[in-house]
Amino acid sequence: MTAEITVELPTETVGENMLSKENYDLIVNRLSKQSVDKHFEAYIDVPWDEEGMEIDVNDERLECWKIDPVRYSKWYQNQTVEVRRRIALARIASIMRTGWEFENLLQRGLLAHAFRLPNQSSEFRYIHHEVIEESHHSMMFQEFVNRSNIDVAGMPKYLKWLAEKVVLPIQGFAPQLFFFFVLGGEDPIDYMQRQQLKENAGHPIVNRIMKIHVTEEARHISFARNSLRHDVPRMNKVEKFVLSILVPILMAIMVRLMVFPSFKFIRDNKIPFSVYREIIRSDEANDLIRDATAKPRKLARELGLMNKASEGLWKLGKMYDKKDDFKRV
Ligand SMILES: [Fe+2]
Ligand SMILES: [Fe+2]
Repeated sequence: MTAEITVELPTETVGENMLSKENYDLIVNRLSKQSVDKHFEAYIDVPWDEEGMEIDVNDERLECWKIDPVRYSKWYQNQTVEVRRRIALARIASIMRTGWEFENLLQRGLLAHAFRLPNQSSEFRYIHHEVIEESHHSMMFQEFVNRSNIDVAGMPKYLKWLAEKVVLPIQGFAPQLFFFFVLGGEDPIDYMQRQQLKENAGHPIVNRIMKIHVTEEARHISFARNSLRHDVPRMNKVEKFVLSILVPILMAIMVRLMVFPSFKFIRDNKIPFSVYREIIRSDEANDLIRDATAKPRKLARELGLMNKASEGLWKLGKMYDKKDDFKRV
């Protein structure tokens, strides 16, 4: 499994760190071809009804993910095995619900982008491959939620409102910010799923869903990153500065939405608020926030979006790594 689909490019570039239109089209066309060569369907490639794949709250294979800070709280460890299994199932189901809600927004933004594209655009075809893949992911995630029989919630209502009323319209005039929004949702989930898959533990249906997702997300992430490599160097200084400030704010919100349990989750599972506070302030939570945002942070640096003000915001959001990220070269 590779983190990003890489495509061999001709050496010619428009300028430093700038992806030429020709190379961008090469990458996008390659991604389209890969989408045809390898893709999955929610009701063909997931063995929902095979023996051993049942989703049951008493299943002994249920446990919070190794990378989930909830798992390390003393409160969780002191619960009975039945309670821990139920929390683990609810946690995985709520991550899937939040995942498809995010993907729904992403699909709408991509379709709005496609709506304005001229003829002969390489993006038109790839966007439709991605939208189709995200539809299968959404069906796969919601099928899991339904079969868990737990009435989980996804994003909090105020964030749903913000996403629909603010983020989606922004896509029209600031596609660069929209593509960072895309990475803010895709990178943290991708990171969590890859780490959990390395454990080779847990419920096989969850692992199957994650494997499919990680494989196809590599293309989606590559598309978002290369769109940014093409677009951001063409922005003027003021636009770049504004973007450099907005990106860490957006990332700080997105990563927490994707990796932390919501207030509703805490209430539904009768987790005391003091325990929740302890979970989100734990070393495991800080490590997760730092590592799950490592790739967008490095991309922001590559694109010249790091300055004193934006660096301060990345640090404030605990999305930094003393060891390498902020070493000035
Ligand atoms: Fe997806
Ligand atoms: Fe995706």
